[in-house]
Order: sequence, then structure tokens, then C-alpha cells
Amino acid sequence: MNKISLVIAILVLFVSGSVVAGDVAAGKAKAAQCAACHGAAGMSPMGLYPNLAGQKEQYLVKQMNDFRSGSRKDPTMQAMVGALSDDDVANLAAFYAGIK
Ligand code: HEC
Repeated sequence: MNKISLVIAILVLFVSGSVVAGDVAAGKAKAAQCAACHGAAGMSPMGLYPNLAGQKEQYLVKQMNDFRSGSRKDPTMQAMVGALSDDDVANLAAFYAGIK
């Protein structure tokens, strides 16, 4: 492989990686506001709050988007996701899904 195709390969990896998966570090920072209920590492301390650690990434994105659109109703969570952007949702899902 010559230098140029190597550079292109790295660029493609970088670009596709950042489009497909969220940014784990950014998600972790954002997750500070979720920790009271879902636990700092996505393991909830209380029975009514679901664990998020290790959950499927696509499922987490869908649930957050369903809360945002109102097709899944929960007053607490609908208030929590109201201020999230699409990027925030992707980053949070990547963070929680990545916890073993
Ligand atoms: C005040 C407590 C509270 C906070 C803070 C909170 N949540 Fe939740 N979350 C809940 C409850 C309660 C549910 C279950 C809702 C239901 O019964 O439908 C839930 C459900 C969820 C679900 C769906 C889980 C599943 O298995 O279907 C996701 C995803 C989620 N929360 C993400 C977040 C994120 C991301 C944040 C931070 C931005 C956050 N939550 C902040 C209480 C909270």
C-alpha cells in the first residue's frame, strides 16, 4: 500500500467511525446528568430506574428518540431528553452500550 492510499484508508475509517458510532467520551460527559437515576456507570441504584450499561446501542438511540417524539411516554424521561441533540443521543448510546 502506498502512502496516499494509506492516508485515504485512515480518513475513511475516521469519517465512517464518527458517523456510525457516537463519541464515547462526549457521551460520558453528558451522562453526568443521568447518573442520579441510571448510575454513574449505567447500573441503576433503584428498582424503578432501568440499567443502561451494556444495552444495545441502536435500542438506546431508539428509546431516547421515542421519548423525544412522545411515542414512548414517561414524564421523567421525556423531560430528561428534551434538551438532547441528535449527537447527544448518539454519544450517550455509544457510552452506555460500551460499558461491559
Ligand atoms: C429522574 C430520574 C431519571 C433521570 C435523571 C434520567 N432517567 Fe432515563 N429513565 C428513568 C426512568 C424512570 C425510566 C423508565 C421509564 C419507563 O418506565 O418507561 C428511564 C428510561 C430510560 C431509557 C430506556 C431504557 C430501556 O430499557 O428501555 C433510556 C435509554 C434512558 N432512560 C436514558 C437516560 C439518559 C440518557 C438520561 C440522561 C440524559 C436519563 N435517562 C436520565 C429515569 C431517569
